[in-house]
Amino acid sequence: MERKDIRRIAVFTSGGDAPGMNAALRAVVRTAAWNKLHVYGIERGYEGMIDGHFQRLERRDVANIIQRGGTMLRTARSKRFMTPEGRRAAYEHLKAYDIDACIAIGGNGTFTGAKVFSEEFKIPFIGIPGTIDNDLYGTDYTIGFDTAVNTAIDAVDKIRDTADSHNRLFFVEVMGRNSGYIALYTAIGSGASSVLIPESETDLEDLKSVLRKNKARGKLFSVVIVAEGHPMGGATGIAEKIQHELASMEPKVTVIGHLQRGGAPTASDRLLASRLGFAAVELLLQGAENIAVGIVNGEVTSMPFEDAITKQKIPSDEMIRMASILAI
Ligand code: F6P
Repeated sequence: MERKDIRRIAVFTSGGDAPGMNAALRAVVRTAAWNKLHVYGIERGYEGMIDGHFQRLERRDVANIIQRGGTMLRTARSKRFMTPEGRRAAYEHLKAYDIDACIAIGGNGTFTGAKVFSEEFKIPFIGIPGTIDNDLYGTDYTIGFDTAVNTAIDAVDKIRDTADSHNRLFFVEVMGRNSGYIALYTAIGSGASSVLIPESETDLEDLKSVLRKNKARGKLFSVVIVAEGHPMGGATGIAEKIQHELASMEPKVTVIGHLQRGGAPTASDRLLASRLGFAAVELLLQGAENIAVGIVNGEVTSMPFEDAITKQKIPSDEMIRMASILAI
């Protein structure tokens, strides 16, 4: 498709839902409406694109959603979009609705699909980073991360009460896929005894000795935060390996799970989502295509999908070092 004036755009959410996706959707629809664009919302991400589930979205259709978790357009992980036949069917629907460009709200898989598709069919895409994992390069934070960390910290605060009452050791597993961001920020924010993430090496001897020393120094309980993607098998795997040696601390495992994906987005996530949704439409109208928007050092920025997908974002050494120093 030749690049032409943008008059009709489609927007969708894809991959794991994240609190703040609705706020991003609202910002996209309202910025587009202000610029006199027609907006179509696609249900269930690439699945809905393949099946032709499009709905016209006007400014009032996104009223009263900024405070809601989940995504009003619903979402999916689409295997069919990974096939040429699936993408061809999706393209036919975009053509039928005369869509000039798409805005995709999601994570790595969403951006990968957008890149492949836009190269095949020459339809401009802009990506908005929406995932609780904060694992996308090109933005300091992804939409949903702050809410997920707040939820995890709230859960750990509660676990501390029972851990303290019984003098127990808890291994708490948080989400993040292969990334340790949620674990690290949760550990710092909840004052955990230790944090185990895929990005830094874990020495179980060290961990045991820290926990024993803590006990000897009079610490009555310990909470260890473990990233689900930890190569030793998450919290359950770690606990299995060392629990018999720490039996006197009555080790327990808690997996917080999908609780971290729900709930009202925090103020930070609403603001981030609003800024990114607004920026995505403005950049599209300025001629940008096949980029992901982000915020780095407080400023809106963008980068090609290729970089956002392939470059790895890892937590800073300083934060990792700080987490262990503050836990003494
Ligand atoms: O990417 C978000 C995320 O919640 C990850 O942290 C987690 O590994 C994964 O999605 C779980 O996916 P699903 O909800 O499909 O089980």
